[in-house]
Amino acid sequence: MDDLEYDVVVIGAGGAGMRAAIEAKAQGARTAIVCKSLFGKAHTVMAEGGIAAALRNVWKEDSWQVHFRDTMRGGKLLNHWRMAQIHAQESPDRVLELEEWGAMFDRTPDGLILQRDFGGHRYARLAHVGDRTGLEMIRTLQDRAVELGIDVLMECTIQKLLTDDGRVAGCLGYLRQSGEMVLLRAKAIVLATGGIGKCWRVTSNSWEYTGDGMAMALEAGADLIDMEFVQFHPTGMVWPPSVRGILVTEGVRGDGGTLRNKDGERFMFWYIPDFFREETADTEAEADRWYDNKKDNRRTPDLLPRDEVARAINTEVKAGRGSAHGGVLLDIASRRSPEYIRSRLPSMYHQFKELADIDITKEPMEVGPTLHYMMGGIRVDPDTQATTVPGLFAAGEVAAGMHGSNRLGGNSLSDLLVFGRRAGLHAAQHANAQRAPGAVDPADVAATERRLAAPLERAGEDPYALHHDLQAVMQDLVGIIRTRTELDEAARQLGDLRRRYDRVGAKGGRRYNPGWNLALDLASMLTVAEAVARSAALREESRGGHTRGDFPNSDPEWGRKNVVARWRDGRIELTTEPLAQMPPDLAAIVGSEPKATEQTAVESTAPAGLGGHR
Ligand code: FUM
Repeated sequence: MDDLEYDVVVIGAGGAGMRAAIEAKAQGARTAIVCKSLFGKAHTVMAEGGIAAALRNVWKEDSWQVHFRDTMRGGKLLNHWRMAQIHAQESPDRVLELEEWGAMFDRTPDGLILQRDFGGHRYARLAHVGDRTGLEMIRTLQDRAVELGIDVLMECTIQKLLTDDGRVAGCLGYLRQSGEMVLLRAKAIVLATGGIGKCWRVTSNSWEYTGDGMAMALEAGADLIDMEFVQFHPTGMVWPPSVRGILVTEGVRGDGGTLRNKDGERFMFWYIPDFFREETADTEAEADRWYDNKKDNRRTPDLLPRDEVARAINTEVKAGRGSAHGGVLLDIASRRSPEYIRSRLPSMYHQFKELADIDITKEPMEVGPTLHYMMGGIRVDPDTQATTVPGLFAAGEVAAGMHGSNRLGGNSLSDLLVFGRRAGLHAAQHANAQRAPGAVDPADVAATERRLAAPLERAGEDPYALHHDLQAVMQDLVGIIRTRTELDEAARQLGDLRRRYDRVGAKGGRRYNPGWNLALDLASMLTVAEAVARSAALREESRGGHTRGDFPNSDPEWGRKNVVARWRDGRIELTTEPLAQMPPDLAAIVGSEPKATEQTAVESTAPAGLGGHR
């Protein structure tokens, strides 16, 4: 077994992990970054449309206060106010820093970073590189990390956080290539492992997103909060079946695309919630004026926050007004020229041409909701990103609080930069204050080794079949709209899967054995899936990414608390705790939540294959 020692180990090499590692290294900490996949391959690239930051290059009226307000309202006020404030205040500096490090942003005619419109943002605010912004961010951060000489462990899956008397001492994982174990001793660890999308069947996430960081943190004693809030991005590909779920950037709508049902109706006008009515155009003529000059006050309802749009699409399909393959139509060709579309959305153009044989400069795209993002995750201190486990920090999608019950598009890339940097900084400071890493208990190492080897030593349940069944439970019973009956059934079926998991077996040896690797990932997926289903059953209201068909209203009481998951005697225990109180000056910026309002487009059942059940 390799036995390595660092001051700071960053687990996860997407935008948050890379930014954390860069900062820790800059603080003089001996730093390593661990990638589950190859360095540079991360879900960050699936945030295609841009980085939200009040740079004020397109709209002088923008400010951190308006960005803060939009973020809080988009999250239906369940966000940790302090994270939303820090994020809105610091994201412009993080974008400019990225530019200094070489990111090639699109430009305004006078040479400033260009910003585009996105859902829920009052002003055009997303700094972007065509529709490849996440990719450019990763490329830039990767160059910087290499330049700084940060150690990189590729294709390494961390399976266990090691603690010494409750504080972080290191972590243990295995290398996919050889199957050998790696022990990383560390004074501080930053978790930046991203989300849990692979628990669902239709998702924009790739194979790495199995909830490892959340499950490990929970078992090490950290709190998980808000696990009931998962985000279905409204627009994933729906056809052909092999590409179902692949992201269609919100940038299509930001740049002029409109949603229509099979009868050509612009249905989003039917689903404008009271909370956003004041700032949303309610006639096609008004929305079209906004598209033409972007200066009218009221924006198109196609750019309502994601939870609203996903539910509206779900309802249209269920009502029989969906497209041929169970989605709706997203049309940019009738508003924008082919040159404009090819230059602003080059990846979308190629994606549809190559994968679906559709020319989006001439025809509409078929789109439907796809599981994209997890708002819930590890509870962190808003200023330092410290978890409740000393020496353990978390940033990016794995951490919770920033986005409340629903994230606005574009706020994840800025979140990664702002809180990745803070996590790296505070992890380095924590490490610098320790003389040595905590002691690693050999019994812990031996027990983890035995657990990892176990699936190779039995011919039991097939991990692929188990994964298939887990995805069916989450897709069918823990989708866009949930009910108590469905969630209870989900919890029961997850219990059955957990029992089958005890017999999971993988054929072959340890080298590059995806069956074995999946068998190990399934343990994390089962843990986080249970936390999601049970948290969703507990929250008896509808808010943001959590819609209860049996409780369609928001409830101000529930709007004042988080659901918290903790690990007790090998089980998940749930409780509720009050939200941090927002100071009055910030509360005045945000405005108050309307009294118990019914969410728009709530149906107790969802159409086949669209994130709901049946
Ligand atoms: O639609 C998109 O380009 C995704 C962006 C995001 O998730 O922030």
